[in-house]
Amino acid sequence: MQPTSCLVEVRSGTLKGCTGRYEKRLSDLVGIYADAKAFTARLRERTDLLVYAVEDLRPSTAAGDMIFGVTRMIPGQVGGEFFVTRGHIHAKANRPEIYYGESGAGLMLLESPEGETRIIEITPRTVCYVPPYWIHRSVNVGANDLVMTFAYPADSGQDYEIIAKSGGMRQRIVDDGRGSWKAVDNSDYRPRSASEVARIMASAD
Ligand code: NI
Repeated sequence: MQPTSCLVEVRSGTLKGCTGRYEKRLSDLVGIYADAKAFTARLRERTDLLVYAVEDLRPSTAAGDMIFGVTRMIPGQVGGEFFVTRGHIHAKANRPEIYYGESGAGLMLLESPEGETRIIEITPRTVCYVPPYWIHRSVNVGANDLVMTFAYPADSGQDYEIIAKSGGMRQRIVDDGRGSWKAVDNSDYRPRSASEVARIMASAD
């Protein structure tokens, strides 16, 4: 691999020079939001809304290498709950990540395997550090696109199932009715067992 550069196109939320891209549409996000009826209604509103897109550069997946990219999330809600990414923990759980706010207003919703939670607000020029072993999910709480640049170790991998297995993340981010957001407890949340926590803490090298 040769030294290279990419250009973050903030307005379009894209990465000029990227080698990969993936998208998540509303139909890919079944089961994430509390209000299933509102979700179905939202799905029927128009043809499968593009909720977020990621463009990245993956030089390799070798240990010691790095993947970076840009994510763009559209603004919106399902039954008063702000649009979120699927969220994950890294498959090698001790791998960290950095997110850098480019435009918009967002949150990083974080949860440890034991169920501790943290919320980091992301505005332009905020650098958010996601430590090893933390489940992370982005939330667009603004009225415009949320665009963030990110970077993580190339051998991190992603475990998307961890959130579904516990009935979602412990907290949901909802409209507070006064133009802002608030975190509420997710009534479907099931804490992880000690053996499940131990399994996650062991998925590292
Ligand atoms: Ni990650």
